[in-house]
Amino acid sequence: MKTPSVIKGLRLGQQIAIKYFFAAMILFCAQMIFGLIAGLQFILPEFLYQILDFNVTRMVHINAMIIWLLFGFMGSVYWLVEDEAGSDLVGYKLGNIGFWVLLIAVIVVVLVYLIVQVGPGTESSLWFINEGREYIEAPRWADIGIVAVMLIFFYNIAATFSKGKWSGISGVLVLDLLALAGVYLAGMFYSTNISIDQFWWWWVVHLWVEATWEVLVACIMAWGLIQTIGASRKIVTTWLYVEVALMFGSGILGLGHHYFWIGTPEYWLTVGGFFSALEPIPLVAMLVHAVYDAGTKNLKVSNHPAFAWFIAHVFGNFLGAGVWGFFQTLPQINLYTHGTQWSASHGHLAFFGAYVTINVAMFYMAVQKLRGNIAMGSGLLNKYRWKTSLILLNVGALGMTVALLIAGYEQAFIERAVGGSTWSGYFSAQRDSTFIASMHWRMLFGILMTVGTFFLAWDLLTIGKKNKNPVFETT
Ligand code: HEM
Ligand code: HEM
Ligand SMILES: [Fe+2]
Repeated sequence: MKTPSVIKGLRLGQQIAIKYFFAAMILFCAQMIFGLIAGLQFILPEFLYQILDFNVTRMVHINAMIIWLLFGFMGSVYWLVEDEAGSDLVGYKLGNIGFWVLLIAVIVVVLVYLIVQVGPGTESSLWFINEGREYIEAPRWADIGIVAVMLIFFYNIAATFSKGKWSGISGVLVLDLLALAGVYLAGMFYSTNISIDQFWWWWVVHLWVEATWEVLVACIMAWGLIQTIGASRKIVTTWLYVEVALMFGSGILGLGHHYFWIGTPEYWLTVGGFFSALEPIPLVAMLVHAVYDAGTKNLKVSNHPAFAWFIAHVFGNFLGAGVWGFFQTLPQINLYTHGTQWSASHGHLAFFGAYVTINVAMFYMAVQKLRGNIAMGSGLLNKYRWKTSLILLNVGALGMTVALLIAGYEQAFIERAVGGSTWSGYFSAQRDSTFIASMHWRMLFGILMTVGTFFLAWDLLTIGKKNKNPVFETT
């Protein structure tokens, strides 16, 4: 194979990873802008009415999120694969083509969302415009493209490990990628029976975020702990196995917490309630693991921003997914909270805490090497930038979560408990002053987060550029 034009010092997979990270960061900014518009439409319902309706802004907001997180994950795996395998990447050209195909598909899909906002739902709209499944609305042609790109990705990663060497981390990682791609197939067919349709759709959404993505970030975190604080591989791998067993043990049947009220058999109340109540356990294990590892080392961290974001990840995952998920997972409680801002409160903290954080940590790992393996510790210039974005994003996320939780609590009370889940109950909850105030607070914290995101982009573009710090040696 001809040697590609290289960015100095980066391995082949890392060259591809940089592209994924760059695209991810742009989509992250887009997600925030659409989030702000959606939030504003709660306060000013006529804002952009019939130009960019709420359902479209919301769809672009959450689709951009899913796609950029996936871009970030693929970048992260490309980033670490060669170090972990001890060999050069297999299929560099193919991987590059995959990146461009995916990027162009995403751009076309979003443009079509924005251009064709209303119209009948037919077989052809399913193929070319919108599949109508929350979070994964992409039309079927794009689904097929995504699966093809995932297959290339899977081949590249598995073949690189086979050429080099396998490890505990890489074994778990490759099996997990297979499961992640496999589950996506469940979201590709369509049924006119809404219960059946929702039944399969949850396989993608729930089994991604509560099983396969969690395992993927556990692998990235395991690698990250070895890299940033020199944790012992043996200990990290043992933890990984325990966490994966617990994660799949509780997360797979935990799926039942989405089957409470959609027309599935009643046994799901028991199964879902029981297993999803166990789901926080692996998240506690992950938290203890990271704190334990950090505590047993003479911490000499070579990348402060990355390490700070790894820490934000373990706490965010525990709080957002574990605690906020647990709040509403028992059917007796979910009866009141289902479909209120309570879910949005959990959705924001979980996605942010578990997945945004670890992606940002990986961006900082990458940028460190890109700038020539500079030490990113206390000697770094313009430290205020990464610190400001860290604070704005995390304070914003927590603030928004609390605002939405208050709104959800008010809805559960006024609409459900008092209003008996009627339409008039719904409207009196929407008109309640607590609800309206919460929507304003959400907006304020959303602005903080958006400013934080732009700060982050700025920092990543500039950090370490003018640094005369000594180059440190990676292991
Ligand atoms: C990082 C992991 C997780 C993420 C990203 C996540 C995200 C979400 C999101 C976005 C929703 C709203 C779905 C919708 O649009 O209807 C949701 C619903 C839900 N989540 Fe999670 N979640 C995670 C982990 C958990 C865990 C560990 C639990 C249980 C302990 C849990 C329990 C629930 C429940 C019960 C609902 C249903 C709310 C309802 O429809 O009434 N989640 N989750
Ligand atoms: C990294 C940051 C963010 C993440 C991970 C995120 C994630 C999500 C998720 C998962 C949902 C679906 C929730 C559900 O249906 O339960 C959602 C909806 C929404 N988000 Fe965000 N979001 C972020 C930032 C923002 C910002 C900055 C705003 C601005 C105010 C915002 C406003 C909204 C609004 C208005 C909705 C619709 C909620 C509804 O349907 O009631 N988000 N977001
Ligand atoms: Fe779930």
